Amino acid sequence: MEPLEADVFTTQAKELSAVEKQKLEEQNKRGLVPEFKANKLEIDAQRNWDIFYKRNETRFFKDRHWTTREFQELLDQEECHEKRTLFEVGCGVGNLVFPLLEEQTSEEGCFSNSRFFFYACDFSPRAVEFVRSNPLYDPSQISAFQCDITTQQVHEHIPASSVDICTMIFVLSAIHPQKFIDVVQNLGKLLKPGGLLLFRDYGLYDMAQLRFKPGNKIAENLYVRQDGTRSYFFSEKEVSKLFEENGFEVITNAYVHRRTLNLKEGVDVPRIFLQGKFRRKNQ
Ligand SMILES: C[S@@+](CC[C@H](N)C(=O)[O-])C[C@H]1O[C@@H](n2cnc3c(N)ncnc32)[C@H](O)[C@@H]1O
Repeated sequence: MEPLEADVFTTQAKELSAVEKQKLEEQNKRGLVPEFKANKLEIDAQRNWDIFYKRNETRFFKDRHWTTREFQELLDQEECHEKRTLFEVGCGVGNLVFPLLEEQTSEEGCFSNSRFFFYACDFSPRAVEFVRSNPLYDPSQISAFQCDITTQQVHEHIPASSVDICTMIFVLSAIHPQKFIDVVQNLGKLLKPGGLLLFRDYGLYDMAQLRFKPGNKIAENLYVRQDGTRSYFFSEKEVSKLFEENGFEVITNAYVHRRTLNLKEGVDVPRIFLQGKFRRKNQ
């Protein structure tokens, strides 16, 4: 997918056209996913992600080379002293960490090998195995482990108040909204006071939301895909509130409107993401 023009950042939610409103209405036609099925999706969440990686292996997500452009914090280091710590939550097969690791390993001078120590976790054991078997995986620079970030498991792997930067890229949308607070509180405990959480995920009324057919809606803005994985679409307001009420200060938080060209199909694809930077408060 090629970007067609510069991204537009705004805190205004997308205004829906009459046709788009109709599409959202139609999603309710067969009612919501029945409760027993919705509960089963929650119980099977890990299994469904693991099957996703069994099927797609490392082919599905592309390397996230845009992260240093969008999040300058991944580059800034005033002096060359001790390593900073970065924790990538829901790392999948490592599309965010490996490009960063590769970049810092190839640098010259005092920054070489000294920018970050990486922790990376994922719910899916298979995804973690793909990370560990990557030729760039070097235990002196990265530690990957399986965990459910909605539980206390992560605290067995990472000391409290030790992380400089947490990254969460298209991960919270895969988690049930009732567990968002647990996730944010867990990450707050791991970050140093003043530490940053960098967030990017699906924005409200993204075309992926409008595309869902009747029978796939679990709750407001929450859907199930064919393979049993779920996806939530975030409003700017609820994400700001979530972080503010759970120990963070909002530095930036906005919808990113991006138009991309799908060269294969020759179609213009407008996407809406939500991108934010949140700072852990001092106490
Ligand atoms: C859409 S994928 C994004 C993967 C990766 N961040 C990327 O951008 O390429 C969502 C990821 O979140 C992981 N995930 C879902 N629920 C999780 C949980 N409770 N704890 C940790 N990871 C989770 C999934 O296994 C999956 O790898």
